Amino acid sequence: MFTNLQKRQTLTVLGINTGTSIDSIDLAVARISRVRGRVSFRFLEGFSRKFPNDLRQTLIALAESESVALDTLIRTDNVLGHCLGKAAMFVQKRMLLNGVKIDLVASHGQTIRHTPQFKTLAGKKHRGSLQIGAPGSIAVATLLPVAADFRQADIALGNEGAPITVHAMNQIFRSPAHSRLIVNIGGMSNYFYIPAAKGGASALARDCGPGNILSDSLMQTLEGKRFDRGGKIALSGSCSKSVLQALMTSKFFSSRARSTGREEFGRIALQKITLLGERDSLSTADIMATAAELTVQAIVAGVKPILRKDRSIQKLYLTGGGRKNNLFVTRLRESLTEIEIVLVDELGIDGDYVEACAFALMGEMTIRGIASPTLFDGKSKRRQFPVLGSIFQPPLKKV
Ligand SMILES: Nc1ncnc2c1ncn2[C@@H]1O[C@H](COP(=O)(O)OP(=O)(O)O)[C@@H](O)[C@H]1O
Ligand SMILES: [Mg+2]
Repeated sequence: MFTNLQKRQTLTVLGINTGTSIDSIDLAVARISRVRGRVSFRFLEGFSRKFPNDLRQTLIALAESESVALDTLIRTDNVLGHCLGKAAMFVQKRMLLNGVKIDLVASHGQTIRHTPQFKTLAGKKHRGSLQIGAPGSIAVATLLPVAADFRQADIALGNEGAPITVHAMNQIFRSPAHSRLIVNIGGMSNYFYIPAAKGGASALARDCGPGNILSDSLMQTLEGKRFDRGGKIALSGSCSKSVLQALMTSKFFSSRARSTGREEFGRIALQKITLLGERDSLSTADIMATAAELTVQAIVAGVKPILRKDRSIQKLYLTGGGRKNNLFVTRLRESLTEIEIVLVDELGIDGDYVEACAFALMGEMTIRGIASPTLFDGKSKRRQFPVLGSIFQPPLKKV
């Protein structure tokens, strides 16, 4: 089955992403061609599907709680796989109506826990990351091979397993003439530095810190709403400098870790900002403005060294749901006056589906057995690069 796909120059791939925000299932269909190692990537269409509400609540509870009931984890893995399979089938049918046949699915799954710090267990230092969403169920629903579990091979080589999409982002967005800086504001925020192809420099990626996660959980607890649409509430408040400073003491900002997650900026940060807000009698709008400013400051601190390193960067492209938050956009424009801040959509890919596109490309690489460099720090002397992802096969009619 794979040899058939491997022989083809062009594959149509469905990439599926469910990010840290657990807000929706993002599905992107892309046409990916490879001629003598050179990739051409064309985004065809994106679809967003809702989680059933009870499944969403269970996923959030699993991702937030310190200890997890194994039985719940196993069952949720299967329920989510079923749900992703249904979403994939929906897209498969819709694309067929336009004469587009999908060849392969690539599914990131839902991160339940990401532990980039080393800890000792059974005498060995280890780290890990867990994504669930039974890829086998997607293969059963679509009757297509499914590439998944993209982080494990990188972790096996001693890395954090994140940011994992850097090579894919580099291939999708690399321009011959211009260096590009892309900042994704999802649950977490991260940057991708994609140097101009002609310079031959390495791409770089790193998490900056929180994205929408703290604002989202504040909105849920204080206002009973999913998120601050347009950043309207945050825009009506003012940032408390002392509370912001207290939040900036988070371990991630002084560490050399390349990735972070809900473990650092989920429930614990929510408790901290709520307590400090009560202490200083801050209004909801002020608390929201302070949480949003934490995201802005994390991004500014993250990208400044890159802007100093490559002065040819002219534009910073925002992607992810946070690009629709006007407070983030306004404050980033005020804080980074040296570059133009625009939306990634102007590069031809809807910013809601950039990550799903990256996973589509990663799935194509899995099926072709192509390795992904994952460390781009310029210092790595590594000789081994991981082939990311496992492949789940669809059932056959006859054995
Ligand atoms: N119109 C909007 N205004 C402000 N924020 C938005 C808007 N739409 C989405 N968002 C924010 O983006 C988040 C989802 O971003 P997304 O890129 O999907 O993150 P993730 O990859 O973590 O799932 C939402 O939870 C919300 O905070
Ligand atoms: Mg999302």
